[in-house]
Amino acid sequence: MSASERIVYLNGEYLPHNQARVSVFDRGFLFGDGVYEVIPVLQGKLVDEDYSVERLSRSLNEISMAWPCSTQDYLHMLRTLIDRNHLQEGSVYVQVTRGVAERDFAYPKNTPSSIMAFTSERLLLNNPLAERGVSVVTVPDLRWKRRDIKSLNLLAQCMAKQEAAAQGAFEAWMVEDGRITEGSSSSAFIVKDGHIITRALSNAILPGIRRRVIIELTEKEGLVLEQRPFSVEEAHHADEAFLSSATTLVLPVVLVDGQAVGDGKPGAITQRLRELYIATLLAEAARK
Ligand code: PDD
Repeated sequence: MSASERIVYLNGEYLPHNQARVSVFDRGFLFGDGVYEVIPVLQGKLVDEDYSVERLSRSLNEISMAWPCSTQDYLHMLRTLIDRNHLQEGSVYVQVTRGVAERDFAYPKNTPSSIMAFTSERLLLNNPLAERGVSVVTVPDLRWKRRDIKSLNLLAQCMAKQEAAAQGAFEAWMVEDGRITEGSSSSAFIVKDGHIITRALSNAILPGIRRRVIIELTEKEGLVLEQRPFSVEEAHHADEAFLSSATTLVLPVVLVDGQAVGDGKPGAITQRLRELYIATLLAEAARK
């Protein structure tokens, strides 16, 4: 189905996207007061579904919002949306905002939350970037102090990604105190002397679901993992580098700030992790 015929979900209704309307008083629109998830879809099935539900629960809880419906109804809605859009491979975006109320900073009382979701078709498995690798540039991390919440406030990430685009790069790796926190919309990893290095969870980064699964895979495979901040300098001198997210899965990084990573080709550990992760996802899709 083409993007122009897309059916979206909005507060209980499945509508052609150009008929879906939200109020100008929606707190998501006025304040970015809400949270979201992006969930990959493979072979028409949601994957990494449980971890995504867990993270949405956490995000809602951290901003004192209740679930807009039961998790069962939520998942049923996402599956219906996938079916209505005949989506085979891509992602679902879903956001929950604190609803419509007079503009006032403090949370309104007894206001129902708003929930909206849409699908996007994209190549996850046969992404040509997985063969070529991508480039990243480092930029200052301008974000707030609760980056662990998957909040709708993404202006600093838009600015970072725009800086990357202006420099012809795929992603921006954001830097704080000389260390890389994460990508503007992905988790960041380097590999040095066989050690896979990624920042530990804290309020400084989003708890990426792909990051979580990659860590589980490294444990299963007996690979060495270090959870610690790494410097821009270390990224420049890494043997391999990669990024991960719902929409990219695992992608090799072959250039950091214009400097080749290792021999400038996707690294062996990176490619192995991508293969293992894809196998896990396909097994999950096949079970459903
Ligand atoms: N972004 N870090 C940030 C800041 C992100 O925005 C994302 C995801 C990730 C990776 O998390 P996950 O593996 O759970 O997708 C890390 C999504 C894809 C987005 O905003 O479109």
